[in-house]
Amino acid sequence: MTQIKNIGILCSGGDSPGMNCAIRAVVRTAINNGLQPYGIVRGYQGLLEGNFIPMNASSVGNILQHGGTILQTSRCKEFHEPDIRKEAAHILRRKKIDALVVIGGDGSFNGAWALHEEHKVIVAGIPGTIDNDISGTDYTIGFDTAVQTAVDAVDKIRDTAHSHARTFIVEVMGRRSPAIALHVGVCTGAENVIYPKDEIDFDSIASDIKRGMSRGKNSSIIICAEGNKPGLAYEAQKGLKEKFGIDAHVCILGHIQRGGNPSAIDRFIASKMGYRAVSEILAGKQAFVTAYIKGEVTSVPLQECLKKKDEYLPQNMELVKTLSI
Ligand code: F6P
Repeated sequence: MTQIKNIGILCSGGDSPGMNCAIRAVVRTAINNGLQPYGIVRGYQGLLEGNFIPMNASSVGNILQHGGTILQTSRCKEFHEPDIRKEAAHILRRKKIDALVVIGGDGSFNGAWALHEEHKVIVAGIPGTIDNDISGTDYTIGFDTAVQTAVDAVDKIRDTAHSHARTFIVEVMGRRSPAIALHVGVCTGAENVIYPKDEIDFDSIASDIKRGMSRGKNSSIIICAEGNKPGLAYEAQKGLKEKFGIDAHVCILGHIQRGGNPSAIDRFIASKMGYRAVSEILAGKQAFVTAYIKGEVTSVPLQECLKKKDEYLPQNMELVKTLSI
């Protein structure tokens, strides 16, 4: 078994609130166990550029309450190429990194898995994305904070929607994952949630809006998951106008959902995952993810976390519709 002395840590893909807590936990657990942690700046891109910083306990002081990531992150398309990964493995060897901790989403984990499969690099994944859409884990760091940020925004929109008797379509992040949209829909009393899996069901949205109006409601909120790229809410706005003559305002929340101080839940889970990642590396695990399953942080083989999970929970949609009559 490789004797672990140095571990590298990087963030990859979209940042998420709580990543700093995970970095802090990895660094301090490593130091507590006599290891030397190295921060790799700007994800796989920084790895390829050899951008490694030795870290100590003070490097991660006063960061756990801040959003973003002190290590910065990137989306590195080059990493899909085998030759580039070969170069990355070579750099890790040259820098004497014995294990690599990757905080990110399914794309980042696929990169980590390839590094392990092709070059036997010891890799630990920590799920960090606001989308909560990775297979093999019930939770990804940042989701709770992002949902709360969106809920706060929708509460404010509800105030003005009510004052002006308007319908709003509020677009939230999450690409094709409906997780953020459904949670926000339940928590804000939205009339309907659009998630980009099927065609937009204009009949159902219009009938939900009209049903509310007929019992005296003067405002409606429709939550829309963004889809492949931001802007699905404009399609919904156009359809409602053309098909039913309903005027709706659009508000796209965008990247504010990725920032902000992490919630206590995100801090707690990220801290536990960071600790667990180092403990499992020391216990000899080679390729795993720290997963949150049934309320506990545990670890699962990395192969189980390479896909997007289909988070659509029909019961949540049912809840939105039942409670917003
Ligand atoms: O990190 C996840 C996510 O925020 C998605 O919800 C969103 O679709 C995407 O990233 C946006 O990515 P970028 O910031 O690169 O535009």
